[in-house]
Amino acid sequence: MGGYEAREAAWGKLEAHAEALARTPLKALFTADADRVARFTREVAGVAVDHSRQRITSETLALFMSLAKAVDLQGQLAAMRNGGIVNATEGRAAMHAALRGSGTDAAARAAVDKARGDVRAFAGEVTSGKRRAAGGPFNAIVHIGIGGSDLGPRFIYDALKAFRRPGMTMRFAANVDGAEIADALEGLDPKTTLVVVVSKTFTTQETMANADHARAWLVAAVGEEAANRQIVAVSAAPERAEKWGAGAVFPFWDWVGGRYSLWSAVGLSCEIALQDGAFEALLEGAAAMDAHVFDTALADNLAFRAACVQSLNRLYGMKTYALIPYGRRLTLLPAFLQQLEMESNGKSVDVEGRALARSSAAITWGDAGTNAQHSFFQLLHQGRDVTPVEFLVIARGSEGPASHRAMLLANVLAQAQALYEGKSPEAAKAEMLAKGETPERAQYLSTHRAFPGDRPSTMVGLDALTPKTLGALLAFYEHRTVMQAWLAGINPFDQWGVELGKQMAALLLPALQGGAVSSVDPATAAWVEKLR
Ligand code: F6P
Repeated sequence: MGGYEAREAAWGKLEAHAEALARTPLKALFTADADRVARFTREVAGVAVDHSRQRITSETLALFMSLAKAVDLQGQLAAMRNGGIVNATEGRAAMHAALRGSGTDAAARAAVDKARGDVRAFAGEVTSGKRRAAGGPFNAIVHIGIGGSDLGPRFIYDALKAFRRPGMTMRFAANVDGAEIADALEGLDPKTTLVVVVSKTFTTQETMANADHARAWLVAAVGEEAANRQIVAVSAAPERAEKWGAGAVFPFWDWVGGRYSLWSAVGLSCEIALQDGAFEALLEGAAAMDAHVFDTALADNLAFRAACVQSLNRLYGMKTYALIPYGRRLTLLPAFLQQLEMESNGKSVDVEGRALARSSAAITWGDAGTNAQHSFFQLLHQGRDVTPVEFLVIARGSEGPASHRAMLLANVLAQAQALYEGKSPEAAKAEMLAKGETPERAQYLSTHRAFPGDRPSTMVGLDALTPKTLGALLAFYEHRTVMQAWLAGINPFDQWGVELGKQMAALLLPALQGGAVSSVDPATAAWVEKLR
């Protein structure tokens, strides 16, 4: 059987399995297996993932292992690790793991080591005060970039507030809405600000517009020559960045996808804005996860299991999943994962270009708990559509008033339990009667106050919120994403779907600046008239 036929046959078996298992209540799975929690929980590098409340069995995993064999998942994993061309449409390797020392390609390793040394040396000069701005030591960074050149550093800086370097502040500008760069620069002193422009291609419209504006802001205050010393770039197109006028350019390479690039010089601004050793620890955490994922048999491989769960839920017809980190410091995680998962896997054709028979990606969405409980959790508990939820909880440590911690933890556990347990109309009615409602009213309210339950969720526990666990967590999500793609037969490393809109925006720009409108649909033409 050829690769495609073998893949489809394996998926066919999984579809039949999912159809049968869909009718089994989660509680029955627990009744049948006293060790279920232990069986479906794994902990790696400070990241514990409990899939026991997902509708999955040992048989499911065995069927996914057959699928993995059919798509040569382990061969692809080895190829990715070794620098093989795993991004077929762009003819490129995908060596993001090499950025944290986990790749085997010698040339990549040497390039990574050199670049890492340069980033650390530069950061050291800035933080020690050896490298100064026109008005004295640097005390602020404006990080300009979008998508993969923004979301990772933005999330890390926000999440690791406890690890920030005193006396250094960081702002971000991604959106081409001028409000964003205006906000980023507001109140900063151009005489002590470092501008870091991050763009793999150094052609991205939003980034170039924001970078030009930031440069003008610096030049107006300190003059051209001094401004150049306060602007650095990170790019896989270093000549373009130099030509634009960056004072120093830190390279990365076409074999690093934007959404997988946090570990490269893209993290330069975090290297400066976080305390000494924090970025290194992030890399170490990611490398620990890599070591597990690369070297552990699939049956016990955390990323593989998680990829199976995500893939299986799509077979159950669940088109989205909600990612709910408890708490505040992980608020930006859903945004980071939206790009990682949806830009990687939102495809309709397999690597060979054949139409996919089933969806290759769920829609990722979510917000921090407990806030989300007071917003869309109504739908999660009682809506007709079942949405799997991924909860994240931090086991040790907390900031702010100590008394809040237990409340936060009680809430996350309660939400997962409520989704699983539910409440019958009879139980709801009994509660109403106990509260003194009349039998008629208790009967009327019983269906409104009932919960179907039997709703799946995953519990992810971070040992503590540190650079190391965060590195491991993000590497876990990268591997989970890529493995899902390989199971589906798609290429997770290209993103052609972002191109059409970019092309059209370039054509519409002159029209919005007053030029003629040609070759657009009637609705677009009407809106151009209205907006220009
Ligand atoms: O528009 C999508 C995208 O190409 C992402 O893949 C990328 O992370 C982002 O734009 C930014 O691209 P660049 O780093 O080249 O500016």
